[in-house]
Amino acid sequence: MSVLPPGFISTDDVLHDRLSASEVRRLELEHGNAELLYGLDLLGVAGPFSRVTPWELEDEAGVRRINASGYAATPFGEMPPALTGFLREFLEKNRAMALPQQSSSPWRAALEANLVRLLARELPSHADSQVFFCSSGTEAVEGALKFAKAFRPGSKFQISFGSGYHGKTLGSLSLTPNPEYQDIFRPLVPGALTVPYGDLDAFRALVRRVGPDKITCVIVEPIQGEGGVNIPPPGFLSGLGEYCRQHGIVVIADEIQTGLGRTGHWFESAAQGLDPDIITLAKPLGGGMTAVGATIARHDIYKKMLGGLSSKRHSNTFGGGALAMAVGLKSLEYLIENDFPARSLELGERGLHRLRETQRRFPRLLEGVRGQGLLLAMQFQPMLGVPLPGVLKELVFEATALLALRELHASGVIANLSLSSKRTVRLTPALDMPMDVFDTIFDRVDDFARRRPVSRDLLTGTPPVLLARLAKFAASKPKKRTPSDG
Ligand SMILES: Cc1ncc(COP(=O)(O)O)c(C=O)c1O
Repeated sequence: MSVLPPGFISTDDVLHDRLSASEVRRLELEHGNAELLYGLDLLGVAGPFSRVTPWELEDEAGVRRINASGYAATPFGEMPPALTGFLREFLEKNRAMALPQQSSSPWRAALEANLVRLLARELPSHADSQVFFCSSGTEAVEGALKFAKAFRPGSKFQISFGSGYHGKTLGSLSLTPNPEYQDIFRPLVPGALTVPYGDLDAFRALVRRVGPDKITCVIVEPIQGEGGVNIPPPGFLSGLGEYCRQHGIVVIADEIQTGLGRTGHWFESAAQGLDPDIITLAKPLGGGMTAVGATIARHDIYKKMLGGLSSKRHSNTFGGGALAMAVGLKSLEYLIENDFPARSLELGERGLHRLRETQRRFPRLLEGVRGQGLLLAMQFQPMLGVPLPGVLKELVFEATALLALRELHASGVIANLSLSSKRTVRLTPALDMPMDVFDTIFDRVDDFARRRPVSRDLLTGTPPVLLARLAKFAASKPKKRTPSDG
């Protein structure tokens, strides 16, 4: 029995489901990211959801849905038995320090070694690379940018690509060219330059114009995830790597979304012929259970920033903690033992085939579908086909994806929005999802398309009261929110 003061919520309350779903939403609207939750709540997709199987969730009414979301960070779904069984053993038997900032750690050592071995199998030049751990993707990118800057002191510019996404802390945000996320925070970290994704000629021209010596690094996603699943043209990444090598520009491959199997390869950059100097990893490394980020850098780059007494120049408190490392180690082991990248590639082809079929039959709903491995995208036709001025057009694009998300939800599929591509909804199912569950996703997407064959139907099929509430929400200033069901 807990003896917390009145009004406090105990772990027992949460563990034993004594907090009702509407109470959870109310608390979040009062004390959390209220506007986000309110919007999701209006759309009826706010949850909270509980796990039925690793791949299926249910809501408070007992409605089950397949989880094809998780923003690529749940490689084995929710509470995968492979990890939970191991965690029980870890909690019982582990004797290593939890937060070994000032000492060596068996868990950290093992994960460092395994990550470098895995990378060196694909890219032998990384055999003596070194790893720096952190607790999120954006932090892994910050680390990569600092490594690059320390390696090329005096250079001022960093290049990223249009529609790229690298995170939302100030350094990574500076290289995430999206006015929606950047504008209010200007001036950002100086020196960020942007080139259209996939355009090697434009990249070379920019380097020539600025001067290679002035350029610190280029950061690139081997396939853009939040940008809406954009696969670069063949030869782009290998050409980029070759050109940068000739000019001494540090290449950072941001594999936070693509890496460790999501797109069907251990490292998508390596699969596309790029041998980057620095690689960032995060999402799947935490097995969908905890936060693990990693920056892997070549030995000479690593030691330049963290050499001798300067080895404290970049640090954090939680990176490399035993629990995170143990989960990371087990996740990697499970991925390797089952060769999940190969499965991802195979399942992805099957899923993409199904999406193409749906798109072919319903081109007035789906403008396009694309993907590789289990990173799949559906781009919707705008709900209003009339030409609109910029801001309004963006709003219609965003509303299209939000209503599509709602309809998919109603059809039994939980999907992802795309942070830097407004009309694109993504499917990122678990890499170990059973085939019948996986196939059901595409049956349900198809059912949804049959119910709403034209994107305008997303609008006309939404109850007018809800549309009015959504419009009011979009037009209103942040204020105190109460649950939409309350
Ligand atoms: C390619 C890429 N880089 C960086 C990030 C940022 O990761 P996090 O959200 O863990 O900070 C993301 C997240 O979606 C990503 O897809």
